[in-house]
Amino acid sequence: MSFKDLALKRQSYRKFLEKPVEKEKLEQIVEIAHYAPSACNSQPWKMHVVCEPEMVKDLSACLRDFGMNQFTKEVPAFIVVSEVDAKLAVGSKLKYDNNHLVKYDVGQLIAYITLAAEDLGLSTCILGWLNNKKIASLLNFEENELANVVVAVGYSEAPTRQKVRKEIDSITCWH
Ligand SMILES: Cc1cc2nc3c(=O)[nH]c(=O)nc-3n(C[C@H](O)[C@H](O)[C@H](O)COP(=O)(O)O)c2cc1C
Repeated sequence: MSFKDLALKRQSYRKFLEKPVEKEKLEQIVEIAHYAPSACNSQPWKMHVVCEPEMVKDLSACLRDFGMNQFTKEVPAFIVVSEVDAKLAVGSKLKYDNNHLVKYDVGQLIAYITLAAEDLGLSTCILGWLNNKKIASLLNFEENELANVVVAVGYSEAPTRQKVRKEIDSITCWH
């Protein structure tokens, strides 16, 4: 698949089959995602792969806490993406930290996760409506670890939808 085809195929799936995700595929996703770039190569993130049925159920409850994301009851696996302090790469001569860039870094990781999963024949949905305090407690987060995004991973038979996006000319400026 070309990168353009992959970008057009990746979409948010909100209906999943009752089919578990193979552990090897989850391993491949995190392996590919860990090549994502980050500011000063600080890699200020962790990926918590949740695939044990009891844990999946408990995590899904944290995602439905605000009444949204009811479909996550059917999702067989999740990758919880947490952000941690951006420690500068060993050897960096910069004197200031780059914590203001952490959210951009985590966004790169999430993009890699979703595209890697799609490339492996899986379906994903990025989830930002969640109770991050409950997730931190459930997954025994370290201090300063925060999850604002979870990626649902599973199989779906939903057809590929036409993308709804702003007109390219309205978001692009040529100078
Ligand atoms: C940071 C972020 C948070 C999101 N949170 C949710 C969510 O909680 N529930 C949901 O159903 N979709 C969520 N989405 C999916 C978006 O609604 C979706 O990506 C957007 O409408 C474009 O549609 P597409 O992914 O099918 O191309 C989120 C997407 C992003 C990038």
